[in-house]
Amino acid sequence: MSRRSGRFGTGATLLDRRTAPVYGLQRGRSLIGCLEVSVRSSSGGYPVRVGGGVRGMLPEVAASIASSGRCAIIADERVAGLWYHEVASSLASHGIEAVPAFFPAGEASKTRESWAALTDVLMDAALGRDCCVVSLGGGVTGDLAGFVAATFLRGVPFVQLPTTTLAMIDASVGGKTGVDHPAGKNLVGAFHAPAAVLADPDFLATLDAGIRAQGYAEAVKHGVILDAAYAEWLAERAGALLEGDTEAVQRSVVRSVELKAGVVSDDEFEAGRRRILNFGHTVGHALELESGYTLGHGHAVAAGMVAEARIGEELGVTAAGTADAIRALVGPFGLPASHPLLAHPRRLAAHMIRDKKTRSGVVHIVRLEDLGRTGVGDATTVPVREDELVRIIGSFVAED
Ligand SMILES: NC(=O)c1ccc[n+]([C@@H]2O[C@H](COP(=O)([O-])OP(=O)(O)OC[C@H]3O[C@@H](n4cnc5c(N)ncnc54)[C@H](O)[C@@H]3O)[C@@H](O)[C@H]2O)c1
Ligand SMILES: [Zn+2]
Repeated sequence: MSRRSGRFGTGATLLDRRTAPVYGLQRGRSLIGCLEVSVRSSSGGYPVRVGGGVRGMLPEVAASIASSGRCAIIADERVAGLWYHEVASSLASHGIEAVPAFFPAGEASKTRESWAALTDVLMDAALGRDCCVVSLGGGVTGDLAGFVAATFLRGVPFVQLPTTTLAMIDASVGGKTGVDHPAGKNLVGAFHAPAAVLADPDFLATLDAGIRAQGYAEAVKHGVILDAAYAEWLAERAGALLEGDTEAVQRSVVRSVELKAGVVSDDEFEAGRRRILNFGHTVGHALELESGYTLGHGHAVAAGMVAEARIGEELGVTAAGTADAIRALVGPFGLPASHPLLAHPRRLAAHMIRDKKTRSGVVHIVRLEDLGRTGVGDATTVPVREDELVRIIGSFVAED
């Protein structure tokens, strides 16, 4: 039985006032409406459009932001092999030239070296400020392509075409771009809002089941920090979501984007409340780094959320039983609630101390008070000393 009654959203419609149905599209196997969520940003805001077939809107969007009629499509080699031709052809049929810029798939490519190589491709193609960058891929591509766009000629517009659940649900929205550094994840980057996000679930047809599942770690996170009923809906519909049920996937992407948009619209540069989106990521990033980036981001976040809730319970700021509740929410997606590397609390704590969220040798963990509720203002995070962190993680690993 659920800890909360009711359903997320408003019943007949999932949409809040920021969201309005735009149009219906016949595409492939299904007729589903395209939904739009607006995100406010200092550069004027941007739409996130969600629906089967919305990738067909790319030429129109590209034409409106790239007066030269030229754009770079940045994709990893795997996604390029599957989708580049279709996307480039749709641009060509509207008279827009695509410059291909590819890199090897995987987190190991999210580096300054890849950023430099991709920038060189744009430079060699003599693209100007009147071009745009199209990010075609998952979160790695979005972060990398966004950083290329943020820095090329001091910044050109870019469009996000997310192709993984994780990128649709989370990474393509919010304007955080960047690359990893040997000292940690995402340590070099910039805020650079996209001109538009076109989240087309049709892309997911070619995605491996394991990678598809990982995106729901971020969706569960959105529910855990902001909307407990949504978290429970996700766990109940995990089977349908993993199978790619069109309506369920679209509802999930829209609800997650609504929740994230609500936070980043009010705190674009993470001066305060946006920090809640880091829930599960303080431990999660340390696990990723310690694994040499062999651990997937969704797996790291799932285990990280359970660990951070247990730390919160131990510190007395999180309601007892919350970590177990999160464990029950990630389970139906086949996501891990723990990880063997948690047996090395000293090494993990050292990574966390170096993480950019850290101030003066103290680790700040998101203060989750209960499912769906975090602290606010100065209580958005809770400080934990390194020795305390080592002790607490050490203690619950001993129990597992
Ligand atoms: N900027 C943000 O706000 C933000 C938020 C969350 C996560 N992230 C970042 O996102 C990254 C993880 O994203 P990810 O899990 O999407 O990783 P990813 O981009 O590496 O994609 C995972 C794998 O799926 C493949 N793939 C992608 N789309 C495909 C498709 N449609 N069909 C077949 N294969 C496909 C890729 O080639 C890759 O091998 C991490 O680097 C994380 O830090 C960023
Ligand atoms: Zn994440």
